Amino acid sequence: MDQWEALKAECLQCRKCALADTRTNVVFGEGVKDAEVLCIGEGPGEQEDLTGRPFVGRAGKLLDDMLEIIDLSREKNVYIGNMVKCRPPQNRDPLNIEQEACEGWLTAQIELMKPKIIICLGRIAAMKYIKEDFKITKEHGQWFEKDGILRIALFHPAALLRDPRRKPETFEDLKTIQAKIREVCTHTY
Ligand code: URA
Repeated sequence: MDQWEALKAECLQCRKCALADTRTNVVFGEGVKDAEVLCIGEGPGEQEDLTGRPFVGRAGKLLDDMLEIIDLSREKNVYIGNMVKCRPPQNRDPLNIEQEACEGWLTAQIELMKPKIIICLGRIAAMKYIKEDFKITKEHGQWFEKDGILRIALFHPAALLRDPRRKPETFEDLKTIQAKIREVCTHTY
């Protein structure tokens, strides 16, 4: 078993917080584990909890469509993970204590993957993985660098489903990401 598989096996057994009692499945993440681009969402919803896969509901379909516009897919060249690996009951926001208990798993995934680019999906992931006072309305589509990794946030696909007027801005942000990938990533896109 390689380090990634060992980490996954351990994560699937996790009981570090109370979400372990209510989850159906741990959602470890999905995609190419040595991809240069990592997308980070907030946490599993109902469909994700039932299937053990990230972003498989309506928002997930939209995410796949967004990525496809810039030749990214979880089959080919992207990894998709979440800040919190287990579904909070009734999709409430994950508590700080749950986020803190879970944090180490994604940190370990990032250390093994060594992505060049992190795409935060929505404000909550951006506040954790870009900067604490991140303002999604103002700062989506802007690049930040931390620990040698380029980071950018998009509106969360679920927010785009609620407010499709933001889609044109997101399209521009996707083009910004595509240009950066062409500049800094070594795989062919
Ligand atoms: N929303 C998220 O943030 N993550 C998922 O996996 C699904 C929906």
